[in-house]
Amino acid sequence: MPLGEIERLLQNEIGLHSSTVGSDTVRHAVEARMRACDISRVEDYRDVIRHSRTELDQLIDTVVIPETWFFRDHNPFSAFSEWLQESRRGRNTPTPLRILSVPCSTGEEPYTLAMCLADCGIAPSQAHIDAIDISSVNLAIARNAEYGINSFRSHDLSFRERHFDAVGQRYRLRDDIRARVRFTRANILDSEFLAGCEAYHVIFCRNLLIYFDRATQHQAIDNLCKLLVERGLLFLGHSETSLLKDRPFTAMAFPRSFGFVHRQPVDQPEAVPEFKKPRRPAYPPAPASQKQKPTMPFAGVRPETKPHDNTRRDSDPLQTAFRLADEGHLDEAALQCEALMKQDSCQPGPYYLLGLVREATGNSSAAEQLFRKAVYLAPDHYEALTHLSVICERKGDKQSAQRFRDRAQRIQATAPLRHIEQ
Ligand SMILES: C[S@@+](CC[C@H](N)C(=O)[O-])C[C@H]1O[C@@H](n2cnc3c(N)ncnc32)[C@H](O)[C@@H]1O
Repeated sequence: MPLGEIERLLQNEIGLHSSTVGSDTVRHAVEARMRACDISRVEDYRDVIRHSRTELDQLIDTVVIPETWFFRDHNPFSAFSEWLQESRRGRNTPTPLRILSVPCSTGEEPYTLAMCLADCGIAPSQAHIDAIDISSVNLAIARNAEYGINSFRSHDLSFRERHFDAVGQRYRLRDDIRARVRFTRANILDSEFLAGCEAYHVIFCRNLLIYFDRATQHQAIDNLCKLLVERGLLFLGHSETSLLKDRPFTAMAFPRSFGFVHRQPVDQPEAVPEFKKPRRPAYPPAPASQKQKPTMPFAGVRPETKPHDNTRRDSDPLQTAFRLADEGHLDEAALQCEALMKQDSCQPGPYYLLGLVREATGNSSAAEQLFRKAVYLAPDHYEALTHLSVICERKGDKQSAQRFRDRAQRIQATAPLRHIEQ
């Protein structure tokens, strides 16, 4: 069936798995491109994209999900800023600091990182941000750096006052922040992805891997590991953290940042605690003979001697469950949520977290039910509403997706201002 062939082609090309975005999403994109090309038969369109790289790229631009906004999820950026400040205090900030944002979509994520750097007093010459995406349409929007209200969904919008100028109904990012980011088109699945680049100290790779199947997710993570210095930081999306379960990464101490430090495997305890001069390849770790002596753990990183210490306990059991999930211990987090639900079935938190866990393990329909339950118990549960809108979008149910998005935005508009924790 031609549509199935197009789905497979997209999967091979960009990793997009139709079961995660829904066949409807692919079908709608194909129909849109067929209209644009004045082609009426799917078979004919399939033949065109087999031979035309330009048209395949147009289809990719149409099918990708560009959903993003400034300070999305908030905590990863607070953790990043805190880490910056801690490392500056300890005078061990690598210079120049190299940061990668992939995928960057329309630019909100790398520009958020640039704003964090500026707000922490890091001079442009001391840090460098590379921002990568496969979509040239998204990159053009990113380079233009002018945004509508949809890009400003966080509670605290004080950054907009500091770094943007209003242009009618839109906001233009100031040049000093724009100049900190360099945009490039690339495919994270390419075996030569950023080959020849110096390694990075910090990598943000959020909300892309959820669209891949397991093997492709690991292929992407392998590529990122090659680009990360020892003790470098990797930030993933909240549903993507389980991918690091069997890899040498330790969760940062910052709650719900979904940030991890790349460390030596546990059977090689002489991990180098500070950022080392970027080198390539930085992964797999250097042989024992090249390792340096152990010193104090890096600031901002929970000092763990093994991947998961069962003896540590948070005072709030829901926080414990969040911590377990952050660290990739999804089964344990799920059990904790279920126990909490048994104790008190009227609290939205455990339903929300279990929804995240189910989403992370690819069980989207269970996740949807759990997020719905969280919203039923707490109609102003912003995060659950946002997840529901993404799930509905993926299923091709655009109407419900919009409804949930509108509800989330109304909540944000009426919420009291919260300060970014820096
Ligand atoms: C949902 S956005 C995530 C943006 C941002 N990281 C965030 O979390 O807000 C997903 C982006 O992934 C890009 N993308 C999809 N497949 C890709 C690939 N194989 N390589 C690089 N970028 C890809 C899409 O073009 C889209 O802009």
